[in-house]
Amino acid sequence: MDKQTALERLRALDRERMHLVRSAALLQWDQETGLPPEGVEDRAEQLAVLEGLAHEKLVNPELGQLLEVLEARGFVEDPPAGTASFPGEDFLRVLRRDYERAVKLPVDFVRECARTEGLSQAVWVKARRQRDFSLFAPHLEKMVRHAQEKTRFWGWGAPGSGTTLYDGLLDLYEPDLSAGDMAAVFGPLGERLSALLQKITAAPEKLQGLPGFLHGHYNPQKQDAFCRELLQGLGFDFNRGRLDCSAHPFTSTLGFNDVRITTRYAAEDPMAGLLSVVHEAGHAFYEMALDPLLRSSCLGEGTSMGIHESQSRLWENVIGRSRSFWRGWFPRFREFFPEETRGRGVEDLYRELNRVRPSLIRVEADEVSYSLHIILRFELEQGLIGGALTVNELPAAWNAAMKKYLGLSPADDADGVLQDIHWSMGAFGYFPSYALGNLYGLQLWEKLGEDLPGMAESLERRDYGGIHRWLGEKIYRRGRRVEPARLIEEATGKPLSSSAFLGYIEKKYSELYEL
Ligand code: CO
Repeated sequence: MDKQTALERLRALDRERMHLVRSAALLQWDQETGLPPEGVEDRAEQLAVLEGLAHEKLVNPELGQLLEVLEARGFVEDPPAGTASFPGEDFLRVLRRDYERAVKLPVDFVRECARTEGLSQAVWVKARRQRDFSLFAPHLEKMVRHAQEKTRFWGWGAPGSGTTLYDGLLDLYEPDLSAGDMAAVFGPLGERLSALLQKITAAPEKLQGLPGFLHGHYNPQKQDAFCRELLQGLGFDFNRGRLDCSAHPFTSTLGFNDVRITTRYAAEDPMAGLLSVVHEAGHAFYEMALDPLLRSSCLGEGTSMGIHESQSRLWENVIGRSRSFWRGWFPRFREFFPEETRGRGVEDLYRELNRVRPSLIRVEADEVSYSLHIILRFELEQGLIGGALTVNELPAAWNAAMKKYLGLSPADDADGVLQDIHWSMGAFGYFPSYALGNLYGLQLWEKLGEDLPGMAESLERRDYGGIHRWLGEKIYRRGRRVEPARLIEEATGKPLSSSAFLGYIEKKYSELYEL
């Protein structure tokens, strides 16, 4: 078989798998947005069938043989300058990574993991409702053991390898970034944020007590109408995407021209729904601006969870919570809600939107304390996976870390160690993506601001074209062709660092709280 034929065949196999993955995603999207309650049981079976088929496509021996053939022949010729051709070398590298990850796990093990995951999640829901960690503890123990076995199967943490088991789990979400790399950044970040948080909570009463007009009654239908106009204004293409409602906001890519986001509206808290829309829009912009050459291939996705989260957080926090953004949108917001906003201005909204109040709950956290919630989880995960911390010791360790970083003590485990779904699904190593997203986002924003002066004025004019073009070229269009560390270095000229994020946070909140 000549090289071209082998590549075509490999791409066809990969494409079929991607179509299956996205068909499963469509069923999942439907489950979250419109499935009648009684439909859940059949849907679970349908999803299991599709996911099983997608897995079979990936571990297909033919796919492995084609990879070997093409790798052995030194596949790639450089495309002629100035022409666009499919990036074969990147394709082989990324597909090899996905293939190895799937093929190294024994089938029985994969099946056992899927079975216990479902049960573990169900028990977690119950334990959280009953505010009782002891119900969940035996299932969590199993999830930890499975995670350890999984990363061991992948080849991490062997004596003398210089890697840890936890490194292998992080690598799943943030390729090529080790726990040591992260700890070197998160350690000092945690200290600086903790210190800032203490100063903010000690600031005078008059700066803490804020207007509160964003907590009245805002008609959800009108919120939706405003959010649709906002979304369109930000550059979301409704010919290639949708906005729907679900219990938890998310983004789902169902095809090259089909990227869907969701939100939820609460009458008493209009900014929650609106900022979720802006957050998910950031994820969607990434998926919508991929290079068409990567369509329906394993390269046609965001390169890591951290980079993905950098986009959602950049749009939600840095743009969506800024004065300039609201100078652009507040007049229109007031037209939708004249009674609710009577006598209020951009400054009132800005202060209320950026109020800092340490909370026990991660998803309610402000910009200053959010990363502290993540650093806490990062340290505990390292302990659990590395074996230094047992599941029985976990609630006490959680509470101690909560006290250390946020100065708070949960009344019970429901508001503490049981609050997140991630561990019940065995998703260890996922949390750091959120904090990395904050850091990457500000690194990009700093460089973008240097390259495109006058950004504040652009935001006031509701002109986002420069942002889309800059991010599109540096990040979005490249998909998975470039791993996150290199992507950030190439885009900003610097490796991962917390200095841009800390500079932004300290400046913004020192001004707000007159520190
Ligand atoms: Co997100």
